[in-house]
Amino acid sequence: MNALLEVRQIAKAFGGNTVLHDLDLHVNAGEIVGLLGPNGSGKSTLLNVISGFTPSDDGEILFDGVPIHTRDAYAISRMGVCRTFQLPAMPSRMTVRDVAMAASIARHGPLDSLIRPASVRRLEMQTRERAERLLDELLLTRVAHLPAASISGGQKKLLSIACAMMSEPRLLLLDEPTAGVHPNLRNDLVAQLKRIHAQGVTLIVVEHDMHFIRDLCSRCVVLDRGNMIANCAPDELAQSERVLEAYLGGSRQAQRFAGA
Ligand SMILES: Nc1ncnc2c1ncn2[C@@H]1O[C@H](COP(=O)(O)OP(=O)(O)O)[C@@H](O)[C@H]1O
Ligand SMILES: [Mg+2]
Repeated sequence: MNALLEVRQIAKAFGGNTVLHDLDLHVNAGEIVGLLGPNGSGKSTLLNVISGFTPSDDGEILFDGVPIHTRDAYAISRMGVCRTFQLPAMPSRMTVRDVAMAASIARHGPLDSLIRPASVRRLEMQTRERAERLLDELLLTRVAHLPAASISGGQKKLLSIACAMMSEPRLLLLDEPTAGVHPNLRNDLVAQLKRIHAQGVTLIVVEHDMHFIRDLCSRCVVLDRGNMIANCAPDELAQSERVLEAYLGGSRQAQRFAGA
């Protein structure tokens, strides 16, 4: 069986700074993979390369057997690969509801309605219904009328997940979804990600919180300076000297890590 996502020998440098070194990553449909590593290890860059926001220098990426590394972010999103950002920026003049609605352009394409004007009203109704449902599921109905820039950091993260879900992804890439999120909202977020996964969406999640990782992920991949240094179950991370060295900087913290 083909992997849903196959990253083969991907390399990326910014100027003289090589950020990804001939990286391989296979993700099967239905997995939740945690992507870990110290700051600057290349996690966000890898998500950017997979989702087409940053071109790679070398290597190839297949999604469901189809090469995507030559396509732009818009085309990749239409194929079913979406990402959320570490610090989602929200427009100040659009409401939360408007932002969710606008995200559907990634799915339908801005020209679809011009080419097939008869379907505009139906498309608009379907888009509105889907946006309302996602806002409800992601606990945002209460703030749907507010300017998107005015909601809390945690709510912005939920909104960015709603936006990504508007394009009905098969693979969702989440960049630090719980960073800066209030602990109360964090449990909701985990529950929502489990629900999205149960709907058949495969997830790759960049995350630092080990409780979150253990709760959510079936497998972890650890990067260090753009190299993969571990690919194992969450419980096995604490036994890897390379991970402890790179990620935690020594074996004293390792004890804390193992007990976290
Ligand atoms: N657009 C960019 N231009 C130049 N350097 C970048 C850019 N994006 C990331 N980098 C560099 O790539 C390295 C990895 O960054 P990043 O992928 O954001 O790491 P992580 O998400 O693991 O913290 C860092 O050294 C960072 O400075
Ligand atoms: Mg990052």
